[in-house]
Amino acid sequence: MRAAAIAALCSVCVTASAAAESGDPKHGEALFGQYCQGCHGEKGRGGAHTFMPHVENLTKRGYIEYLPDEYLFGVITQGGPSVGKSSYMPAWGTKLQPQEVWDIIAYIRTLPTY
Ligand code: HEC
Repeated sequence: MRAAAIAALCSVCVTASAAAESGDPKHGEALFGQYCQGCHGEKGRGGAHTFMPHVENLTKRGYIEYLPDEYLFGVITQGGPSVGKSSYMPAWGTKLQPQEVWDIIAYIRTLPTY
C-alpha cells in the first residue's frame, strides 16, 4: 500500500519535471514581462522600488537553484502565503494555464544567478 502511494507520488514528480523541461522559455519570457516584471524587475533582478515591501532578486545564486520546480509551480499558482511569503505575491492559478506557468519556470531557469 505504502509502496503504491510512493510510486503514485513519484509519477507526479516525473510528470512535473517533464513539464518544466518541456516549458518554452521564449513564451515564458513574454509572460514574465507581462505579469511578473512589474514587481520582480527585469530578468527577475528585483524590485520595482515603488512597491512595498521591495521585492528581492528572484535569482539569488545558491538559492534559486535549490528550489524545486514543484515549489515554484506552487508559489506561482497559489501565491506567496502558500509558502509563508508575502501576500503581495498574487496567486496566478486562475489567470495562467499550467503550461504557461511551466513556460515561465523554464524562463526563470534560463536567467543568470548572482
Ligand atoms: C504585485 C507584485 C508581484 C507580482 C505581479 C508578482 N510577484 Fe512574485 N512575489 C512578490 C512578492 C512580494 C514576493 C515575496 C518575496 C519575498 O517574500 O521574499 C514574491 C515571491 C515570488 C516567488 C517566490 C520566491 C521565493 O523566494 O520563494 C516566486 C517564484 C515568484 N514570486 C514568481 C512570480 C511570477 C512568476 C510572477 C508572474 C506570473 C510573479 N511572481 C508576479 C510580488 C509579486
